[in-house]
Amino acid sequence: MQNMLVTGGCGFIGANFIRYVLEKTDYRGKIINVDSLTYAGKPLSLSDLEKNSSRYHFVKADIRNKKSIGDILNEFKIDTVCHFAAESHVDRSIVNPDDFVQTNIIGTYNLLELARERKDRIQLLHHVSTDEVFGSLGKTGFFVEETPYQPNSPYSASKASSDHLVRAYNHTYGLPVTISNCSNNYGPYQFPEKLIPLVILNALEGKPIPVYGDGTNVRDWLYVEDHCAAIWMIMNSGKSGETYNVGGRNEMKNIDVVNMICDLVDELAQPLETGSSRQNLIAFVKDRPGHDRRYAIDCSKLERELSWLPEESFETGLKKTVEWYLKNTDWTDNIRGGDYQKWIKQQYGDNS
Ligand code: NAD
Ligand code: TYD
Repeated sequence: MQNMLVTGGCGFIGANFIRYVLEKTDYRGKIINVDSLTYAGKPLSLSDLEKNSSRYHFVKADIRNKKSIGDILNEFKIDTVCHFAAESHVDRSIVNPDDFVQTNIIGTYNLLELARERKDRIQLLHHVSTDEVFGSLGKTGFFVEETPYQPNSPYSASKASSDHLVRAYNHTYGLPVTISNCSNNYGPYQFPEKLIPLVILNALEGKPIPVYGDGTNVRDWLYVEDHCAAIWMIMNSGKSGETYNVGGRNEMKNIDVVNMICDLVDELAQPLETGSSRQNLIAFVKDRPGHDRRYAIDCSKLERELSWLPEESFETGLKKTVEWYLKNTDWTDNIRGGDYQKWIKQQYGDNS
């Protein structure tokens, strides 16, 4: 690997991945980050690298535009692709599925075709996917790599479709690929439409904290850098054509996550003017249509074959995350403009 293309590197996980690879691994090549800068893409997340690192280069480009991505692959002699770019928020996919089909399915198809046309040079295309492709679990059981796909939302259906295309390009054309299916991530640089950063910022500002339904839906949470380390291990030591589940072995009910964040913000930030605990801001709101009940990942393949283990527990990772949002007000002020305000109003009304 000398010249790696990262797609969607201005988003939450992509930005963390680029930092991880350049700052914490022995990779000595270059990273070319292509991102179309949707509402979720924030070049500010990597502005220090853009100024100071000769090994990092950003190009604004859209994976829906096959020609422009093909030109970038040629210009930078790309030999490896790590593919994050996607529309990623379930609630948005329910309101408007179109961008999800275009970016997540057609965009991935474009990358695969471009890689196939350059099979002599491309050593690996790693596809970053989600556990949501497996659908929803009952009270017991875990998703394993062999669990049949049963995606329930337009988001997860579009990711499932892209996973199938990636697998098929390996099976049919011998394209070297790996796939990871990971559980819910949290950490620095996450756009505050997702549960954890939304709750942190609303708690800080004393705004209502929306909890869908009765708050007992379960997610498995993983600190973002542990996910990045897993992706890097899979890219370096995984078997071509294989998929790997990645998870935190940390199942939590949403309401328990929200209460933990409220307590941490009470502990680490100024008290509310009212003197009341942030838990009093919690507002149970209408449930998400088709809301998946429970996700839980069995990641023993990754642990067994690649010796991966997460470094953060949920307690340490969540504390780090709250501290990051408290400290990085330049970032949070920057993203709390236009589209964020519009979306929050649309979701929760004017008094949110
Ligand atoms: P994100 O929404 O924060 O970032 C997505 C990035 O992709 C943004 O920078 C956006 O500008 C870019 N993008 C969107 N459409 C594009 C296009 N057409 N062309 C080029 N760039 C485009 O998402 P994230 O949370 O960082 O997720 C990254 C990947 O990881 C996604 O593929 C997602 O499905 C997957 N994933 C996310 C989670 C999670 O908990 N966030 C868990 C498992 C897997
Ligand atoms: P989210 O962060 O959107 O991730 P995903 O839907 O991909 O799992 O949501 C995590 C959980 O939190 C999910 O069960 C929906 C719930 N949720 C709320 O209760 N309130 C909110 O405001 C949001 C955004 C999510």
